[in-house]
Amino acid sequence: MRMEKLLVLVCFLAISVFAAGEDEENGVALFIFGDSTVDPGNNNYISAVPQFRADHPPYGNNGFFEKPTGRFCEGRVVDLKKQLDQFEELQDKLVEKLGSDEAEKLFSEAVYFLSIGSNDYLGGYLANPEIQQLHPPQEYVGMVVTNVTKAIQILYSKGARKFGNLGLSALGCLPIMRAMANDPNGGCLAAASAMAAAHNSALSTAFQGLASVLPGLTIADSNFYDFLNDRLEQPSKY
Ligand SMILES: *[C@@H]1O[C@H](CO)[C@@H](O)[C@H](O)[C@H]1NC(C)=O
Repeated sequence: MRMEKLLVLVCFLAISVFAAGEDEENGVALFIFGDSTVDPGNNNYISAVPQFRADHPPYGNNGFFEKPTGRFCEGRVVDLKKQLDQFEELQDKLVEKLGSDEAEKLFSEAVYFLSIGSNDYLGGYLANPEIQQLHPPQEYVGMVVTNVTKAIQILYSKGARKFGNLGLSALGCLPIMRAMANDPNGGCLAAASAMAAAHNSALSTAFQGLASVLPGLTIADSNFYDFLNDRLEQPSKY
């Protein structure tokens, strides 16, 4: 449930920025890279704004699923490399459509939002004993952070300048990880949260490094870890 609420939040954010895009004076494009934490849709049970639902045709007509998944992105998961390839394809199309000057302006003024890493740690590492044998946690964190850093460099080389990063929540406190922790009090799986915290900290250091060598680059980082933890620990405050 908590995750669904987050998705809705991010979706609203995306829509408000796109809506602002209609005002050519002030609007900028928003490109989102990441995992299912930023897969828009999943509002099938929220009737307040029917337009925000994707559980009807033409969604789901890509021959992959039998019916609409409820997600605007069709519910298919693609890795970061594929997302970067798709961005490149989109860039070519927009250059063709808008002309290179206007397309260049669009890409340089756009906001690039990242929400990456949860799957790498939950699925790629913690559920994968072979990988755990090969790499100690800190080394694996370094690999994920290197990949995100490379992605930012690639996007920068294609004109991106303004980035936002959500950061990871305390992954060990997700219900599935609490179940794995098998603590009679329902406590969190410390190893998973530790990786998330190490990731956030290593990525924030990498951001500083990037900003110091890439002119004009700005990255707005968030402290999503504490943001969500605070709400989990003291829900009555909110
Ligand atoms: C890093 O990116 C490469 C190339 O896309 C991929 O094969 C690898 O699995 C990624 N590593 C991690 C730890 O996410």
